[in-house]
Amino acid sequence: MKKTLLNITVNDETFELYIKPKKLLVEVLRDELGLTGTKRGCNTGACGACTVLLNGVTVKSCSVLAVQAEGAEVTTVEHLADGAKLSALQLSFLDQGAYQCGFCTSGMLMSATALLNEEPKPTREDIKEGIHGNICRCTGYNSIIRAIEAVAEGKYREKR
Ligand code: FES
Ligand code: FES
Repeated sequence: MKKTLLNITVNDETFELYIKPKKLLVEVLRDELGLTGTKRGCNTGACGACTVLLNGVTVKSCSVLAVQAEGAEVTTVEHLADGAKLSALQLSFLDQGAYQCGFCTSGMLMSATALLNEEPKPTREDIKEGIHGNICRCTGYNSIIRAIEAVAEGKYREKR
């Protein structure tokens, strides 16, 4: 199949890639760019493990063709930390034990990032709504919600 040129900005870095038109965004992120923090779970848009931000809005990258991200800005979980310094959300997830197997964690972090960007002081209901598209098979929802609440309450300001 003929390849097409994709111009895409990922985590503030611009890329020009020749890809097959049917490539999914998650495939380009993981296989072409090596950003394996974005997980591929159900591959049907149901689990949210593959959640990234596309122009600041959450999308399930298994349900988006890479060519649909032409000219767009994509943010993945790799962008949250500053080198070895973790973001407030990452620190809070660690402290609250908001992960078990960790498979849902990057998607949860990206949905929580989008939520807090839009609403820095979300209610518990807002948080539930914000992560409703993300399934945790380990069912650690309470600690995940607590971790997001702790950031909203200003308990984590600095990366460290
Ligand atoms: S892998 Fe994309 S929603 Fe499950
Ligand atoms: S921590 Fe295992 S799926 Fe969420």
